Amino acid sequence: MNGFPAGFVWGASTSAYQIEGAPLADGAGPSNWHRFSHQPGNIKLDHTGDIACDHYHRFRDDVALMSELGINSYRFSISWSRVLPDGRGARNPKGLDFYARLVDELLARNIMPNVTLYHWDLPAALDERGGWLNADIAGWFADYAVLMYRTLGDRVPLWATLNEPWVNVDAGYVHGVHAPGLRGARNGPIASHNLLRAHGTAVQAFRAELGQRIGIVVNLEPKDPASESPLDLAATQRADAYWNRQYLDPIFFGHYPEELRDIYQDAWPEFSDADLALIRQPIDFVGINYYKRGVVRDDPAAIPARDGYVHQSQNPHTELDWEVYPAGLTRILRWVRDRYGDVALYVTENGAAFADPPAPVRGSVHDPQRIDYLAGHLLAARAALESGVDLRGYYVWSLLDNFEWAEGYTKRFGIVHVDFDTLVRTPKSSAHFYADVVRSNGASLERGR
Ligand code: FCB
Repeated sequence: MNGFPAGFVWGASTSAYQIEGAPLADGAGPSNWHRFSHQPGNIKLDHTGDIACDHYHRFRDDVALMSELGINSYRFSISWSRVLPDGRGARNPKGLDFYARLVDELLARNIMPNVTLYHWDLPAALDERGGWLNADIAGWFADYAVLMYRTLGDRVPLWATLNEPWVNVDAGYVHGVHAPGLRGARNGPIASHNLLRAHGTAVQAFRAELGQRIGIVVNLEPKDPASESPLDLAATQRADAYWNRQYLDPIFFGHYPEELRDIYQDAWPEFSDADLALIRQPIDFVGINYYKRGVVRDDPAAIPARDGYVHQSQNPHTELDWEVYPAGLTRILRWVRDRYGDVALYVTENGAAFADPPAPVRGSVHDPQRIDYLAGHLLAARAALESGVDLRGYYVWSLLDNFEWAEGYTKRFGIVHVDFDTLVRTPKSSAHFYADVVRSNGASLERGR
């Protein structure tokens, strides 16, 4: 039986800094990722997003490619500093025009745009004012959001405020491995809380402007204890609170998980009821990015949640050493439904980096491991649907090989190979596999097994 309903959304995801290139073109301002990647030592091989996939100039070809593959929705993000070079105040008409033309192109090919307002590239001018540590950012973000609502208006049916606030805070503000490169557990709760306040403010503004649907995108993964010892069990609870509940509990319930006090100890501030009420805005969907699970042991050196990661040698791992664990997708989708109720869900990212052949051979790139990964996870999504989860769509990460943050171009997640010298795109075997899945609305998965 094929459990994918008619109208299921089959998409591909990207983000602005990872693919666009031309970060300062046509009046755009620098982002914190532009600054960060230009500081030697921050990114593998000192790669930057200066050219990336040159999507800024090649977006029409990329949309045509999606159309050929039958992809019916495209999730992309807006570069805030392209449209507001200083993050607020004067707008950049050419930057706004780029996104308007992209949306036109998508609609002309019947591809539904799904816009993420913030996928980690913050205007450098706002970073200079403290970025997500400055409480004023909620208002700056809402003003930017309203500008985008008014520009792209009701031509975009699906909007998300933030992508993966957990990674943004943990990597960018606690461990310093992503922009803005800050370190210290004290930053964690403040940056997280301001992200959530910005989310709430932007959702409120959305209701006043538009009748489309808005939600948030979070990365979730099941947390399993490495042993039954009380210490490992407690570490698993902390990891679950830190990763999975820290953002969704305040949005759905209006309070933070209790474990965060234990995690942050005296760095945990008290937050006002008014803020928590602001954060608890009704949303129309949750976007879930799923890559792996976490098997957890107590580890006092793991800051801030003391949640050590335990390698699972019985299962395959991707090039980033992420465990391949498709059953975790079914589990996490059911978990969201059981904990937060019957909210519409999308898998907004799922995919894998493997060591693909470095260059196309006679016009093709054979990536069987990625096909296995995707097939396993699509069947896992189907299992969730069959148990009644309101899953509306699936987006593969990523359409293109791209700038994988601190890993630069050394890790390839695309279903389409990009030659970073010539910028030529070559659909991999996984793109053809995915096109079959899309064309058959999932029925081809049966044949592949
Ligand atoms: C997610 C990010 C995305 C990409 C994938 C591999 O955490 O949202 O930009 O880097 O991981």
